[in-house]
Amino acid sequence: MKLKRILKRIVKWSGVGLLVALFVGGLLLFIAYWRSTNDCESLTAVQGESMKAIVYCEYGSPEVLKLETIAKPIPNDDQVLIKVRAASINPYDWHFMRGEPYVMRLGTGLRKPESARLGVDFSGTVEGVGKNITQFKPGNEVYGGKTGAFAEYVVMLEKYLIPKPENLSFEQAGAVQIAGMTALQGLRDKGKLQPGQRVLINGASGGVGTFAVQIAKTLGADATGVCSTRNADLVRSIGADHVIDYTKEDYTKGAARYDLILDMVGNHGLLANRRALKPEGNYVMIGGPKGRWLAPMDSVLRAFLLKPFVKQQMGFMISTINRDDLLHLRDLMQSGKVNPVIDRRYNGLTELPEAIRYVEEGHARGKVVIALE
Ligand SMILES: NC(=O)c1ccc[n+]([C@@H]2O[C@H](COP(=O)([O-])OP(=O)(O)OC[C@H]3O[C@@H](n4cnc5c(N)ncnc54)[C@H](OP(=O)(O)O)[C@@H]3O)[C@@H](O)[C@H]2O)c1
Repeated sequence: MKLKRILKRIVKWSGVGLLVALFVGGLLLFIAYWRSTNDCESLTAVQGESMKAIVYCEYGSPEVLKLETIAKPIPNDDQVLIKVRAASINPYDWHFMRGEPYVMRLGTGLRKPESARLGVDFSGTVEGVGKNITQFKPGNEVYGGKTGAFAEYVVMLEKYLIPKPENLSFEQAGAVQIAGMTALQGLRDKGKLQPGQRVLINGASGGVGTFAVQIAKTLGADATGVCSTRNADLVRSIGADHVIDYTKEDYTKGAARYDLILDMVGNHGLLANRRALKPEGNYVMIGGPKGRWLAPMDSVLRAFLLKPFVKQQMGFMISTINRDDLLHLRDLMQSGKVNPVIDRRYNGLTELPEAIRYVEEGHARGKVVIALE
């Protein structure tokens, strides 16, 4: 009887504790939501030299993107100032623009984007260097990734700035950073792809996919690209050994078994993907279906939960910036083994909202770039 009373009391106070925690958590979230603000006002209050840049003060559709005059950045002793000649668009950019899935707003600003600047991938010409810079001088042609790349100028540390190979145009070099690094790290590091192995690349005609097909070939793999009918020739032309037209065939129901599936689309469940893997195969999730609240993070969670129960490796990968990888990718491009595929070229930052709208539709064929004068 005594034990029953103690248990009852534990249940009662746990319930009360949970309710209080929920109430306090909700209240804190509500306060944080309404206090959430950004640097918009200070950004557009310009003193000294200025430049044009894309600024977004609210989350939303491409209409929230405004071309504003803001302060031109001044490099410190360890930074390089670059005049942007081209910038490319990634799904990453519209996720930040919309603040979706909402769960990401815990990090990017609950009600408004904490940082009002957008864009990552760029290429350009060095305009100025800080006094500790040794590898670059004005006039050098470079490329890299820096938050706020949808602007006339960026500043960044020299560590992650890469000399542009002469055989690449500014548009091509400005299209490399996110998609190229993701493809390389997904196949080689997370996917552990070995020469002679069979890899299936789902979403082979997109920004990441067009790099992945070419990089898979440099790793000596047998590459199968999944794309639609209209993109089959493109995917073959960049080196795919086999093409599966997703409008006619479901790769998870075919007879072929793969050592690695690199998935940029996430349109098949984990168990279906598992069926298409060899017993020791590896499934690397790069992207997934759009969703307002959680997706594609829910698939990541499911893969995590499934992992202990299956023999195959199943997991999500987020690419990271690493100088050795950037240089390796540069070498592959310099030697002509990997060529960034450009789908559309938009002119100037004024066309950026249109370019983002196009990428958001999810049917880009390679990379979409903005060319700047
Ligand atoms: N984890 C990371 O670090 C990381 C890094 C970069 C990107 N990502 C994510 O990876 C995904 C792909 O990025 P991306 O830059 O390659 O995007 P993208 O360029 O917009 O990809 C568009 C391509 O996907 C193809 N596609 C659409 N539905 C398909 C289907 N059912 N089967 C096969 N292909 C299909 C489209 O071809 P059709 O027009 O023929 O349909 C189009 O060519 C995104 O979700 C992105 O957020 C993740």
